Amino acid sequence: MKYFINSTADYHQHDLTSLGWELTVCNSLEPLNSPCRKILSSPGSFGVHLYNFLKTIVPFNDVHSILEIGGGMGYLMCDFLNLNPQLKSKMIDISPYLLNKQKETLQSFDVAFELADILTVPLKSLAVFDLVIMNENLGDLPTWVAGPEKESDTAPGNEHMTGKLKYFNTKYNLPLGLSENEHINIGAIETVEKLCLAGIKYIYLSEHSCEAVVPEYIKPFISLVPSGSPEMISLKGHKEFTVKFSYLQKIAKVLKYNTWRGPFADFLPLNFSDKVKTALRLKTPFTDEQEIIRQFVYDLFKYEYLVLTKGDKK
Ligand SMILES: C[S@@+](CC[C@H](N)C(=O)[O-])C[C@H]1O[C@@H](n2cnc3c(N)ncnc32)[C@H](O)[C@@H]1O
Repeated sequence: MKYFINSTADYHQHDLTSLGWELTVCNSLEPLNSPCRKILSSPGSFGVHLYNFLKTIVPFNDVHSILEIGGGMGYLMCDFLNLNPQLKSKMIDISPYLLNKQKETLQSFDVAFELADILTVPLKSLAVFDLVIMNENLGDLPTWVAGPEKESDTAPGNEHMTGKLKYFNTKYNLPLGLSENEHINIGAIETVEKLCLAGIKYIYLSEHSCEAVVPEYIKPFISLVPSGSPEMISLKGHKEFTVKFSYLQKIAKVLKYNTWRGPFADFLPLNFSDKVKTALRLKTPFTDEQEIIRQFVYDLFKYEYLVLTKGDKK
């Protein structure tokens, strides 16, 4: 199989001037009057829900420093620091525009900021953090897109790619490159390996998943059949890919991490009211609110999280 590289780096470094084009679940829960908050069992921002969920896995008295990679508008970190002001924190982002937004959002806290592509950040400088957060951004990292020979003939470094695939397949017993036409979340794979090799005690990751399944009670309302391999999503100015979480989980397990995995709905529990059911049942929504609810509920199940804790604490 031959591959060409899909990278969003150029877009994030030079062209991104708004996150409005890709409304993240985190951002959709930020406004106090967000219709998305109203359909959760308890209204609250994304960061507050996530922090309370992580508390059930991560002993926060053991967490003194936190790094968020690709923090968008900085809302998640703002919630974490309001809940736990003792945390020594840092934000790394590839986008100068978003890093500036984070500086505005977090101006009342003592936070360090670094403009960098996470793939170029040395392992040593990551190793100082107790907790690393990567929310809704693994799919932005480079993907190797499987394509017909003709297309990839011009792509450089296929030998280098083969070498890398061999390395990951041997070390982690993965079948990368063996399925015809399967795209490879190489950036996510390398980043998870780097975070684990850096020995970070606690890691939280999330992204839209190509392996997401919906529970029985939602099946009559949402059609979500997992394709099982990374799917392309076209967005303004760039393309992202859904993530194959089972591979990331396997890498973490080989590197002796405990893993917790599931849909966002685990920590953003839905109040499955008649209002929600009506919005989901409609073929064409009547109101903007119904449309927002449909997208949000879909995202609650399409997005997966993966929490990794180092060692034998389970
Ligand atoms: C879809 S946004 C998610 C933002 C935020 N985490 C949220 O959930 O709202 C992706 C974020 O990852 C950042 N990002 C993308 N590629 C990156 C890379 N290679 N290194 C560091 N940050 C990156 C983007 O600039 C942006 O802040």
